Amino acid sequence: MRITIVGAGHVGAVTGAGLAEMGHQVLLVDRDERVRERLGRGEPPFYEPGLGIMLRGNRSRLRTTDDLAGAVGESAMTFLCVGTPSDATGKADLSAVRAASQAIGAALAGRTEPHTVVVKSTVQPGTTAGVVRSAVEAGAGRTPAEGLSVVMNPEFLREGSAVQDFFLPDRLVIGADDPAGMARLEALYAQFSCPMVRCGTSTAEMVKYASNAFLAVRISCANEIGNLCKPLGIDAHEVLDAVGLDDRIGPRFLGAGLGFGGSCFPKDVRALVALGAALGTGATLLSAALAVNDKQPGTLLDLLEERVGIEGRRIGVLGLAFKPETDDIRESRAIPVVQGLLDRGARVLAYDPMAVGRFRALFPEIAYAASAGEVLSGADATVIVTEWPEFERLDYTGLAVVDGRRCRRAEETAEVYEGICW
Ligand code: UDX
Repeated sequence: MRITIVGAGHVGAVTGAGLAEMGHQVLLVDRDERVRERLGRGEPPFYEPGLGIMLRGNRSRLRTTDDLAGAVGESAMTFLCVGTPSDATGKADLSAVRAASQAIGAALAGRTEPHTVVVKSTVQPGTTAGVVRSAVEAGAGRTPAEGLSVVMNPEFLREGSAVQDFFLPDRLVIGADDPAGMARLEALYAQFSCPMVRCGTSTAEMVKYASNAFLAVRISCANEIGNLCKPLGIDAHEVLDAVGLDDRIGPRFLGAGLGFGGSCFPKDVRALVALGAALGTGATLLSAALAVNDKQPGTLLDLLEERVGIEGRRIGVLGLAFKPETDDIRESRAIPVVQGLLDRGARVLAYDPMAVGRFRALFPEIAYAASAGEVLSGADATVIVTEWPEFERLDYTGLAVVDGRRCRRAEETAEVYEGICW
C-alpha cells in the first residue's frame, strides 16, 4: 500500500520506517527541510536506536517531501503524526492537527478511491470525530459511506526503544466509528500477534491519555513514598522492590527519584487536568501527580545545599536528556535542576553523551564537559540527573555526589553520597 505520514517527528519517523519495513511504500511529509534532508539520506534527525538501520534498509520504499497534497493524493492511507504541545492553559494545542486535517481534506477533494486517515497524534477525546473528521470530510466532500474513513490509532512508543515498541507492542488500539475504517486498520496490522482492542475513536483517544496518566501517577506515587522514606532513613527502592512483587502492582515504573519528563507524560497529564477543569469534574489525583513531580528537583538541590553547599561552588551535572538512550531534553528534569543551581549561585559543569547540543541551545551560559570524567575531576560536587549506563562505570572515590537516579557505583564509591529517596 502507498501510505503518507504527515509529520516526521519521533512518532512519524518511526511509524513510517516501520511501515516501510512491513513492505509498504511510504511518503514522509515534513515542512522542515533539514529533517527531510536527513531522513532522505537515511539518517534519523534525532537519536533513536535502530532507526537509522531501518531507514537505510528501506530507502527504496521511503520518500520524503513537503508536498502534502501530492503525497496524500497518491496514497490509500494517511497517518496524522503532528505534535500536540501544551498551550498556555495546559490544554493540547490542536492547531497543527487542525491545519493538517484541512490540508488532507483539500488534497482528497475530487478523488474517489477509498482513503483512510489515521490519527496517531495524542488528542483529547472527541477530536478525531469532531475536529479531524469534520475537516477531512468537508474538504474531501465525502463521508465513510463514500469510502473515506477517519480512525484513531494511538501510539505507545517509548523514546529509546521506539523501534522495538513498534514491532512488539503490548496491544494495538484501533478506534473507528465506521466498519470499513476498522476493517482497513485490522488488515494493516494483520501480521501482529498482540491483543487488538477495537473501540470507538473517543475511547481510543482516552486509552492513550489514561495509559500515560496511570504511569505518571505510579511514578509520582513511588516518589511520594520515597519522600516519606528519606527522612525516616528507609531506602525507598528496597520498599518498592518488595511492593512490586505483589502481582496486582508489578515491578515496573516504580523507580523513585527525580521524576518524569519527556514529550508525553507532563504534557498529557496537564491536558487531562485541563480537561477536568473544562468538564467541571476536576482531576485531583493528576494535579497532585504533577505537583509531586515538580517538587523532586528542589528536593535534590536542598540535599546538595545541606551536604555540600551550592553558592559559589562548581557543581557537576551528569545527564541532561530526559532519560537514557535519547538526545531529547523536552521537559527533562535537568532543566529545573540546572536553573535551580544557577539561581542558587552555582557554577555549572554539565555532561551528557547525547544531549549536550540541544541543552547548550537552552543554557548557553553554563560550561560543558567532553566526558563524564572531566565533570568529576572539575567539580566540587556532582548531581546525577539521568541514569546513562556509562555513569555506572565511573570512579567516584573521594567525591561528593547527590543522586537523583540511584547510581549504585556512586553509592558504593563516593565519599559523600546522598540519594534523593534513599
Ligand atoms: C512515554 C510512554 O511510556 C509511551 O508509551 C508514550 O507513547 C510516550 O511517553 P517516553 O516519554 O519515551 O514514553 O519515556 P518513558 O520510558 O515512559 O519515561 C518517561 C519518564 O518517566 C522519563 O523521564 C523517566 O525517567 C521517568 N521514569 C520512568 C521514572 O522517573 N521512573 C520510572 O520508574 C520510570
